[in-house]
Amino acid sequence: MPGDEALMRRALALAERGRTTVSPNPLVGCVVARNGQIVGEGFHARAGGPHAEVVALRAASDRAAGATAYVTLEPCAHHGRTPPCAQALVAAGVTRVVAATMDPDPVAAGGADALRSAGVRVDLGCCEEEARQQNEIFFHGLATGRPFVVVKAAVSLDGRIAAADGTSRWLTGEQTRQRAHHLRAAADAVIVGSQTVLDDDPALTVRLPGYDGTPPLRVVLDRRRRVGGALQVLDDAAPTLLHRGDLTELLTALWDRKVRSALVEGGASVVAAFLRAGLADRVVLHIAPVLLGARGRPLVTGDWPATLGEAPRLRLHDVEQVGDDAVLTLAPSPMPRAARAADPAAPATGGAAPARDPAAPAADRCAPGVD
Ligand SMILES: NC(=O)c1ccc[n+]([C@@H]2O[C@H](COP(=O)([O-])OP(=O)(O)OC[C@H]3O[C@@H](n4cnc5c(N)ncnc54)[C@H](OP(=O)(O)O)[C@@H]3O)[C@@H](O)[C@H]2O)c1
Repeated sequence: MPGDEALMRRALALAERGRTTVSPNPLVGCVVARNGQIVGEGFHARAGGPHAEVVALRAASDRAAGATAYVTLEPCAHHGRTPPCAQALVAAGVTRVVAATMDPDPVAAGGADALRSAGVRVDLGCCEEEARQQNEIFFHGLATGRPFVVVKAAVSLDGRIAAADGTSRWLTGEQTRQRAHHLRAAADAVIVGSQTVLDDDPALTVRLPGYDGTPPLRVVLDRRRRVGGALQVLDDAAPTLLHRGDLTELLTALWDRKVRSALVEGGASVVAAFLRAGLADRVVLHIAPVLLGARGRPLVTGDWPATLGEAPRLRLHDVEQVGDDAVLTLAPSPMPRAARAADPAAPATGGAAPARDPAAPAADRCAPGVD
């Protein structure tokens, strides 16, 4: 009979299905089980749509009476566009709720207390580390009030993003480029510098089979107003913002537009600007086995410290081989390593780690074999 941990992992896998559609809301999955048997499950797909608990309770119908609900985030206690989930769980007769993480959002929090007041047993913290990792964009946003920024670049073995003549297509192989599209699909906005738009005329759209998410906002940093005319980024395939201010103003403006995650796709000046400003939360490098030499264009432009001791050093989080390329995930500061709770069918996001760090704190508080 599957225990709490297995059922919560199923809820985490369900939550992952909302990855490209749910923003600005958090990913949430829910499993309703009786005697270890799943009788209903669901996930939150879109802001304004039914919450994961409601979908799972509908599927369970009257089998929810006396059951346990496994939820990846504390059920909400507020009347938003949908009624409180805590109330729905009580009304359905659920007698125990296992939640992976507390909801720090002051607007929605309080579900655990409401459930306990109604006589429902609540256990918090099962698979907490995985659930926090899965929703790191959501938690980051609540803590900082700005979008989570991923800087991504394709580089040669010698750290060049384009050849001497400016050509950069294609450095990496087909599989790695698909990865790049998955990163785009998971972001609310894609940011590039004006020079990249003028040099490469990128579409900056998500081109993946079966993709039906909201196309990310295309943002071009263009203080000198050089971008115009028949460029792909100005077509109607997705909305586009031409930004003329600094990066902090940009992130504030994006946050106000409900952008919770942004993917910076170059070029070298813009990558350097985000790193220097300390505004990169994650760096993803797609490294191709090709050499472009000293005349190739470097990953970052500008003046950097002349001594090794002063050079900014990132922290390696993950290394993966994709086709003939290597994908490095780095962070400017320590990141928790948690087992990826992804549905095997869901696209990789580049933000989740595939392996559990044995040194990570044992946050799981799942009762084995209990339903
Ligand atoms: N391999 C890859 O992954 C990859 C990805 C993208 C691009 N590329 C290559 O990169 C090259 C272009 O890179 P690049 O460095 O020349 O140009 P870039 O970074 O694409 O664009 C630079 C321009 O962005 C604007 N900008 C606005 N705010 C900025 C800020 N805070 N900091 C820096 N720039 C800001 C500036 O124009 P204003 O002064 O007008 O605002 C600046 O001239 C091309 O060869 C392209 O093929 C490679």
